[in-house]
Amino acid sequence: MAATTLNTNSARDLPRIDAAAGFRGADLLTLSNVSQRAVLELFETARRSKADATPYRKVLDGKAVALLFEKPSLRTKVSFDVGVARLGGHPVFMDHSAQRLGARESVRDYGKNLERWVDGIVARVYLQSALEELADSAKCPVINALSDRFHPCQAFADLFTLFEMAEHQHSRLRETRIVYVGDGNNVCHSLMQASTLLGVGTTVITPKGFGPAEDVVRECEVFAKAAGSAFLVTTDVNAAEGHDAVYTDVWVSMGQAGGVDEVTRRRKVFAKYQVNGELMERAARGRRAGAVFMHCLPAQRGLEVTDDVIDSPRSVVYEQAENRMHAQNALLVHMFA
Ligand code: CP
Ligand code: NVA
Repeated sequence: MAATTLNTNSARDLPRIDAAAGFRGADLLTLSNVSQRAVLELFETARRSKADATPYRKVLDGKAVALLFEKPSLRTKVSFDVGVARLGGHPVFMDHSAQRLGARESVRDYGKNLERWVDGIVARVYLQSALEELADSAKCPVINALSDRFHPCQAFADLFTLFEMAEHQHSRLRETRIVYVGDGNNVCHSLMQASTLLGVGTTVITPKGFGPAEDVVRECEVFAKAAGSAFLVTTDVNAAEGHDAVYTDVWVSMGQAGGVDEVTRRRKVFAKYQVNGELMERAARGRRAGAVFMHCLPAQRGLEVTDDVIDSPRSVVYEQAENRMHAQNALLVHMFA
């Protein structure tokens, strides 16, 4: 889809999505241009379709959705594949693991061909800029299924999981406090965008030099101020105290350059940011119900999280994985219904 107006964290302008109706025909490249109201309405649809998918079975009747992946995936691939089929649509998987977008023909030509056959494109890419180029080229909506910068579908599922824990009440969700501990990466960016947007108290703890991008931090400060909630970015692991949810992700993301030396270096730098029993205990201090553990998966067990934490009854990682499909299907409903 061509884009026209406001965006706060990218050179590229994006049309503002003020309500879920605004998702219709729009791209989802980041959460920068999405309002709190739009996300809450999306969650209401996710809640309904999770409870009973029957009314949504024909939403994608006669429609095809391309699922394009430059990088490996389990959750995103399967949840979109099954999700599109559940809405009556036809998923078309396109494996780009051996050949990056733009290698065989220009991204523009690729988009201009695809739009002739499919009604939507879900794309997992190395570069956010490739996603933007694709979105500018193709008339149909483009959904970011993970890039170097963002993973908005993951963030929808994560906040929807917390929304369910808050019994679907925004007032209760706003009382929630989440702490992200680890690398200031794509998952961290989208999580902090979504949580600050919804007024969830948000703390991000990373080692020095591995913090989230400055422009995303500035944007989240604006979101948190508008929502009246706390937002802190720090390197101090003690700041984990007093949170209802502890979130982490891998210390080395797909496509991050550096090889074996960089992996070794990161393991040393990140060691004290591991989410283990002690950190979970610290996080739960002062919170009524203790803290839950969250992870987008895949996890590197024994590195960013210990087995006892990820396998504990306080871990909601598989709920998050399940909710990927429900949140994404709600998005597809609003994009195409
Ligand atoms: N969380 C997530 O995006 O998982 P995959 O990489 O398996 O899709
Ligand atoms: N940050 C991770 C998330 C995987 C779902 C990566 O980009 O590899």
